[in-house]
Amino acid sequence: MSQPEPKSSNIVWHDGEIGRDDRARVLGHRGATLWFTGLSGSGKSTIAVALEHALIQRNCLCYRLDGDNVRHGLNANLGFSAEDRTENIRRVGEVAKLFSDSGVLTLSSFISPYRADRKLVRDTHTKDGIPFLEVFVNTPLEVCESRDPKGLYKKARAGEIKGFTGIDDPYETPEDPEIEIDTTQYSIEHAAQRLIEELIARDLIPKEPRS
Ligand code: ADX
Repeated sequence: MSQPEPKSSNIVWHDGEIGRDDRARVLGHRGATLWFTGLSGSGKSTIAVALEHALIQRNCLCYRLDGDNVRHGLNANLGFSAEDRTENIRRVGEVAKLFSDSGVLTLSSFISPYRADRKLVRDTHTKDGIPFLEVFVNTPLEVCESRDPKGLYKKARAGEIKGFTGIDDPYETPEDPEIEIDTTQYSIEHAAQRLIEELIARDLIPKEPRS
């Protein structure tokens, strides 16, 4: 699968004079997309919230894009059919790329159950040299279902929600994620700290927090 071609052939890319390096100089760190994928209730958003705190404490600019939230606005016209999920991820992938290009550390939490959709997002980033880290929040279905923070697994089991990921809709596990987090083994704070270390190791944020 690839990005659709623009509908009109009468549009021309307009380059600016300021680049990513200029923006990184202003901010003191580089932009990047951390793409959290995993089942509903796996802890994607919880880890992203903890990481957001840790980054702001280090004076790094970050922003969260969250499945449930984005579906209240930009993607309010999308449901959970395979086509809608693909479009959800395509749009959010583009938004994440724009944020990252602007220099923001972008924390995207979407189930993003299909490998091909995640690959498209990865490819759109890497072709333009924008760092992309896939973070697989690998929490077993039984654990997500026992947590059931929104009561949705219960509804899905009762047949009140059709096509629920992990129940009667597939989740295709990442084959080669940059980072894998087992939330049954590690605390949320530990996960956030590991991600901070990963960002430092990749030279995306400075080792010593900026004052
Ligand atoms: S995705 O599959 O398109 O990536 P997304 O991350 O935006 O999903 O939204 C997932 C959230 O929507 C879940 O955390 C859950 O709260 C809610 N939801 C509602 N219906 C479904 C469904 N059929 N499958 C999965 N999640 C659902």
